[in-house]
Amino acid sequence: MNRIQKLTPLLANQIAAGEVVERPASVVKELIENCIDAGATQIEIDIESGGMRLIRVRDNGAGIHQDDLPLALSRHATSKINDTAQLAQINTLGFRGEALASIASVSRLTLTSALSRQPGWQISLHGDNAADVTPAPHPQGTTVDVRDLFFNTPARRKFLRSEKTEFDHIDELVKRIALANFSVGFVLRHNQKVVRQFYPATKQQDSRQERLRELCGSGFVENAIHIEADGAGMHLSGWLALPTFSRSQADLQYFYVNGRMVRDKLVMHAIKQAYHDVLYRDRYPAYILFLEIAPNMVDVNVHPTKHEVRFREGRVIHDFVSVTVHDALAHPHAEEETCHSSQHVEPKNIPTPEDTGEVTTWSNSRENVPSALPIKTVAPMQHTYRPQNHNHVHKVQEQLALYKNLSEDPVKVAADIESPPLGFAIGQLQGIYILAENASGLVMIDMHAAHERVMYEKMKAAFAERSMATQSMLVPHTLSLSEREADCVEQYEEFFTQLGFQVERLGKDTIAVRAVPQLLADGPVDALVRDVITDLLNHGDSTRAQEEINRLLGTLACHGSVRANRRMTIPEMNALLRQMEKTDHSGQCNHGRPTTRAFSLDDLDKLFLRGR
Ligand SMILES: Nc1ncnc2c1ncn2[C@@H]1O[C@H](COP(=O)(O)OP(=O)(O)OP(=O)(O)O)[C@@H](O)[C@H]1O
Ligand SMILES: [Mg+2]
Repeated sequence: MNRIQKLTPLLANQIAAGEVVERPASVVKELIENCIDAGATQIEIDIESGGMRLIRVRDNGAGIHQDDLPLALSRHATSKINDTAQLAQINTLGFRGEALASIASVSRLTLTSALSRQPGWQISLHGDNAADVTPAPHPQGTTVDVRDLFFNTPARRKFLRSEKTEFDHIDELVKRIALANFSVGFVLRHNQKVVRQFYPATKQQDSRQERLRELCGSGFVENAIHIEADGAGMHLSGWLALPTFSRSQADLQYFYVNGRMVRDKLVMHAIKQAYHDVLYRDRYPAYILFLEIAPNMVDVNVHPTKHEVRFREGRVIHDFVSVTVHDALAHPHAEEETCHSSQHVEPKNIPTPEDTGEVTTWSNSRENVPSALPIKTVAPMQHTYRPQNHNHVHKVQEQLALYKNLSEDPVKVAADIESPPLGFAIGQLQGIYILAENASGLVMIDMHAAHERVMYEKMKAAFAERSMATQSMLVPHTLSLSEREADCVEQYEEFFTQLGFQVERLGKDTIAVRAVPQLLADGPVDALVRDVITDLLNHGDSTRAQEEINRLLGTLACHGSVRANRRMTIPEMNALLRQMEKTDHSGQCNHGRPTTRAFSLDDLDKLFLRGR
């Protein structure tokens, strides 16, 4: 057996590097984060050979004092925190004081920096041979030059992929950081060619839109709702794609906590829940969201790469995010609908072609929409969703209660509104589409899809009102669980009752299910109860039973709604339009396809090449 000896600093740093420096993109991440912490407004990133030969990051930030240069490269040295209290209040991206030391231990690193109106100084570190600090001209700011990454750790080098793959990772990383730092300009070059260039953007939407368009595509920009919401001491802002712009992969999902991109299960669950009944099962929502929260409410010191965080009030954050997103999707059209107490949309609030700005041309892949047709969607980007009621954790329930009023005579309601958003029906096309005229032009409605949505939302509301009708089991089901699971059932008994279950703990690890929600009586009850328990244990909440109920309601709604080829009278069509206007999510059917399309007079004029 060997005796114990201390690791050399080089070896200790290399071990630490194993955690944070996985590939060139991780180096770029650490270096850019340092620039942002130094208050830079311009960051230039030069990459050669996918970062394997060179990574150079230059900024115009505060710079590093000449005497601090050796410290900047040594482990456990940082200017960002200096006591335990500050560890609980982190408002910089870095704080561990080890990134540069780790990178330097697996590459040939040179650091050059200058303070404001001071000459520049340089230090190089190759492996553990620290060089002297020497004068080197440099404008205010810092340049870090990292060459020959992993030259001394061949095991790591072997895991590197092709130049292109490594550069793609860097590009994605720069994208993530650029999305969270609109006020910073970025230039990314690969093998001396400019690949990305972003100018600093102001707080104005338009100015940010350009960067968004370049990074996330026009499709996203034209189908995203901008949101700003406060609640429970937090602020949530960013962009949510409408369900009609869903993706087949989870590749456009960005969530930042205090400017730091994180992948957090709790938050992902909250967002998924908010989108759950407007998306197909295998589709993924697209979003870029920023949560601002008091630094002491979130622990960022969970993992060296800082991709994970731990929230102090996970449950509150989950509900805040979920309800805000759900609400925004339910009212995508305008802040005026949500922010003003009036239920009526005044004609002046109907977006006109001039103020909606975006004109989108849909690709051929969209069913039923001729590709050459310029189509005006209510450009959601032009509106910012701002919930009026800041304390809206229970707002979803309140909204459901609103549906009590749905039984009002829709024609009478219509008479109260001078020019409703969906206008008045003029006729029916091929038994499939309703054509209607509104203040700005023509609206086409997919009659079955729209009615299905209205029915579905109505049924959900009615279902919620009856507070989940239950059916008693002739013979109660007995389930064997772990003790922890059985504890959970006991703890959340009330929650199960709300859902329409009657559960009871029989022993240390058994429970009895005596009643189930009527709609689910014929389903796999045991599996469902187990899934609900797993959710409760993982998230302190479960939407499974509700999701299953919604799925069944969806099927019922589909069967109960008007089929294609049924002739509708004009009053019937108008009644449907008025109900749609009052229905959450009515812009898309239960499967996330659009239910309406609007063509402004301008669009129609263009179609006919008619100058006005
Ligand atoms: N671009 C830069 N501009 C100004 N100062 C810098 C820059 N890069 C590094 N520094 C200084 O060097 C120190 C060490 O940087 P390093 O990245 O190793 O640690 P850190 O950022 O403090 O913590 P972490 O390891 O979490 O990144 C920083 O605390 C900062 O003072
Ligand atoms: Mg750092």
